[in-house]
Parts: sequence; C-alpha cells; structure tokens
Amino acid sequence: MKICIALTKGRLENQFLDYFQSLSYNLEPLIHKGRKLSIETEQFHFIFAKGVDVATYVEHGIADLGVVGEDILLEYQPDVYNLLALPFGKCQFALAERKEHPPTVSKRTIATKYPFVATEYFRKKGESVDIVKLEGSVELAPILGLADAIIDIVETGTTLKANGLIVKETIHSISARCIANRSSLKIKREKLAPIIELLESKEFIK
Ligand code: PRP
Repeated sequence: MKICIALTKGRLENQFLDYFQSLSYNLEPLIHKGRKLSIETEQFHFIFAKGVDVATYVEHGIADLGVVGEDILLEYQPDVYNLLALPFGKCQFALAERKEHPPTVSKRTIATKYPFVATEYFRKKGESVDIVKLEGSVELAPILGLADAIIDIVETGTTLKANGLIVKETIHSISARCIANRSSLKIKREKLAPIIELLESKEFIK
C-alpha cells in the first residue's frame, strides 16, 4: 500500500507541492489535477481536503501523513502526532480591531474562526468577552458592527489593511506542520522514515 498524504487545499497545497517537487519524487500527475481530490503518483496517494478535515483523515488513519496549518492543530486539538514544522505557511494569530475609532465597551465581542484559541487567549488575560464564531471573511465583523475586534490569522496583512483594521496584539506564530497518524508511525515505520528524514533535512529547507 502506498503512503497516503493529506494536503490542505489552497495556499498550503501549492507551497507544499513546490517544496516537495524539489525532491526526486515524480509529482507529474498532480500538476494538472483539476478538481480531482484523490490522486496517485508512483510513490504516494495524495488527498486534498480542508485543513480540519486533513487532521480528521490523519486521526482516523485514512491518511498516514498530513500537511496542515498549526492554527488547525491549536483550535481542534486532533489526536495526531505533531511531527515537525515545515518552512512555509508562516503567519501569526493576532487580535485586530478598527484603525479608526475602535470601540470602548465594558465587555467586548470578538469574532473569530477560532473560538477555542480565542477563549483560551482571553481566559489567560483574565478578560471576559463574548465570542462570535464565523466561518470566514472575519474582517467584515468589526466594520459592520457585529464585533469589536477579531482574532484571526494574519499572513501578509493585506486583508486587514484593505479593511481598515490593525493588529493590536500578536498571539502566536504559526507555520505549516507535518502531522502523522499515531499507528502509521509504528506500523509503516520503514516506509515513512525516509520521507520524514527528507522533510527534516536542513538542505531541504529553502
Ligand atoms: C485567511 C485569514 C485572513 C487572511 C489573512 O483567510 O482568515 O482573512 O487569510 O491573509 P493576509 O494577511 O495575507 O491578507 P482565507 O484567505 O483563508 O479566507 P477566509 O477568510 O474565507 O477563511
């Protein structure tokens, strides 16, 4: 059986494939994959899913390895082996609010895709807030008055800037992570070891 690698669709997928392509692996079938979500190359079976689902496929042993943002691991705490940091997908968890006239209220409302991370952050600060869970485009919430501030990931800062928001506090640096199914690490050790070694190797890092 081929090693199954689950990749987070979108930015991380492209960065990982660029990264992986610099190795001697033949990734040709992935180049014009179109909308296909499951593709086999000579050596691997790749599946493409949303970040949180990548963690689920790895947790359940459908995928042996996964490439996922650390934000997903911090928010959903999946039962997977958090193998190593990859040198891409670097961004920050940040608290951001309106640049002009940020609200002054006794109890703030915070919009976020990451309610667990946000709750932990404010619990540690000792501030009581209301959390509103959104699925995306969180930057809209302070502009439209749904929330006083947001907790979100910031990569280039372009989305915040384009929507008149600024970072008030950075919370956590994050990067892409390679995760592994706990049983696969033992059962498929021989097949996984060379891949993990490559991912760990210094010369592989851009
Ligand atoms: C993420 C994040 C920010 C944006 C940050 O959203 O939630 O909105 O990227 O990137 P930037 O700092 O480079 O602008 P994503 O693009 O994943 O879309 P979403 O808001 O629909 O989840």
